[in-house]
Amino acid sequence: MTRNQLRNDRSFSPELPAKRRIRQAFDQAAATYDEAADVQREVCDRLARCFEQIGNDFQPGTVLEAGCGTGYGVQWLRQRWPRAELTLVDFASGMLIASRLQCPCTMQVCADIEALPFADQRFDLYWSSLAWQWNDPRQCLTEAGRVLRPGGRLAVATLGIDNFHELRHAFAAIDDYSHVLTIPTPERLLAHCRVDGWTVNIWQRQAVRRHYPDLRTLLRRVKAVGAREVEQRRPAPFGRTAWQAVTARYEQLREPEGLPLTYDVVWLIAHRLQKVRGAYPTIA
Ligand SMILES: C[S@@+](CC[C@H](N)C(=O)[O-])C[C@H]1O[C@@H](n2cnc3c(N)ncnc32)[C@H](O)[C@@H]1O
Repeated sequence: MTRNQLRNDRSFSPELPAKRRIRQAFDQAAATYDEAADVQREVCDRLARCFEQIGNDFQPGTVLEAGCGTGYGVQWLRQRWPRAELTLVDFASGMLIASRLQCPCTMQVCADIEALPFADQRFDLYWSSLAWQWNDPRQCLTEAGRVLRPGGRLAVATLGIDNFHELRHAFAAIDDYSHVLTIPTPERLLAHCRVDGWTVNIWQRQAVRRHYPDLRTLLRRVKAVGAREVEQRRPAPFGRTAWQAVTARYEQLREPEGLPLTYDVVWLIAHRLQKVRGAYPTIA
């Protein structure tokens, strides 16, 4: 490939260190993901129910699942539209391999959902459950808008700023590093949708909570689904005293069912009749 071809190749985007680590974490979690992903299942099932609410007359010929993981969402998509051509994208090759075992009749593409290697207006439906929060949601939205044909549908579940607020509380006393992924407010995404000309059919936000007997089990569960990376890492691991302090702070939040962990989930269904051209206004 020449340098020019490489530059024009949309699948090529230099990875930031944080993104590389996030990809590696998901790669490593591919083997444990399905057993631990009960929240992810619940979120994806609700995305499907949201889609059903907007009516039955939509028949996509081409469907993209962005950030497919091990392929749970694809089973619903395949059942719902058996004749549609399904394309699965994930940047973690371990996840893609797992998805191929579950859904052999689909096209798997190892790529970045912030820079999709597809032509404009290639798909009728863009589907993504719990992948956008690891990225710049605005860039994901822009790419979704580019690869969707006018009139195509967008179905996204992502996370909001209050995600894992208990972990943030527990780590706050220890140091100034971010131990939890920083996610922009969902209102910002909604504002971007409006500015970019999307008609929002469904916008729902709800806390999905789980309880664990202790911090060790909770963290093991988070790690098993690959959700352990943050954009900024502490150079040295915690010592025993720091862990004791984190545990004590988390214990302050204990409820009768155990230690709580909150996912701040947002579900979005939207469509855009016309492609909006030119530069988008900026939202401060
Ligand atoms: C929490 S998992 C969700 C997987 C699946 N959608 C589900 O509901 O089970 C997030 C997935 O998004 C993928 N992902 C995150 N950022 C991505 C990016 N920029 N490009 C491609 N895949 C990405 C991860 O590799 C991971 O497989």
